[in-house]
Amino acid sequence: MIFGSVHDIVTDDLFLNLHGFHGRLRVLLKLEGLNPAGSVKLKTAVALVEDLESRGLLREGSRVIESTSGNLGVALAMVCAAKRYRLTVVSDPNANAQSLRLMQVLGAELVIVRERDANGGFLQTRIRLIEQRLAEDPELIWLDQYANPASVATHAARTAHSIRTSVGDPDYLFVGTGTAGTLMGCASYFRPPSRTRVVAVDSVGSVTFGGPAGPRHIPGLGSSREPRLFDAHQVHRTVAVPEEDAVRMCRRLAADYGLLVGGSTGTVLAGVERLAGELEDHSTIVVVSPDFGDRYLDTVYDDDWADLRLPDWRGEPARQAPAHT
Ligand SMILES: Cc1ncc(COP(=O)(O)O)c(C=O)c1O
Repeated sequence: MIFGSVHDIVTDDLFLNLHGFHGRLRVLLKLEGLNPAGSVKLKTAVALVEDLESRGLLREGSRVIESTSGNLGVALAMVCAAKRYRLTVVSDPNANAQSLRLMQVLGAELVIVRERDANGGFLQTRIRLIEQRLAEDPELIWLDQYANPASVATHAARTAHSIRTSVGDPDYLFVGTGTAGTLMGCASYFRPPSRTRVVAVDSVGSVTFGGPAGPRHIPGLGSSREPRLFDAHQVHRTVAVPEEDAVRMCRRLAADYGLLVGGSTGTVLAGVERLAGELEDHSTIVVVSPDFGDRYLDTVYDDDWADLRLPDWRGEPARQAPAHT
């Protein structure tokens, strides 16, 4: 297969059957990390940039800015380099060092904010910095992954559609929630009469499902303010997973399947484990796996890192499920 641009290389039809993950359930992991940007966010990045292009807002050399915890920044840096746009990425200390380095090598300007916002996260600090830059530079354009419906549309047209064409409509589709672009794209696609029930998964400490704000250490999921794209009415249910469970699940996948998954994949699979008792026998469950674990070797897969930040990770999953319906 010959491609014209690096960002056209999207592998949307790869699923791993996690045999034995749960005795009564068939769990298929949709692998989104096997593209040149290494994550599901390549589709989001292309959609955000093409949306601006379609509105006539970009020309060669245009300056764009975005806030990201890592993967979108890598993907945008790739797309912007290929299309000759100048990118500034605003990120925070939770982003992994390798992703930040990748963005720089791909030519992006990098700004790291270090001050936590009122909810204990960094998102609002990042947004404030973007607003400041926009006020200073009228030609700068904000891609705004938190509000741009192009991200939802692309995940309906590509991510969700590829699930239907590759494996049919599953009984359940479990999707992690960051900006909620992937989630809402899937939820809008698998509306009734589809039998697929879409379950949204997030980390404890995120405010998206209405839980209290708290510190979070795994990038990708969660938000310290409710994402504008998120609409609880369109999902079957929500489940919040402690980060300890995510770390434990990542280690389990490595040990049992030889697969190194990213922290958000561990979180979503831990969400399946949490709800498994309520799911009908022989249900088919598709789980969206946004990226692989090689970018998390120094965090999720590092014992010292986990002991320091999530000291309970070596124990059993908490019985008291902080699940919301
Ligand atoms: C690893 C990882 N998982 C999950 C997500 C969440 O995707 P979305 O922003 O579409 O909700 C992201 C987003 O950056 C991510 O990087």
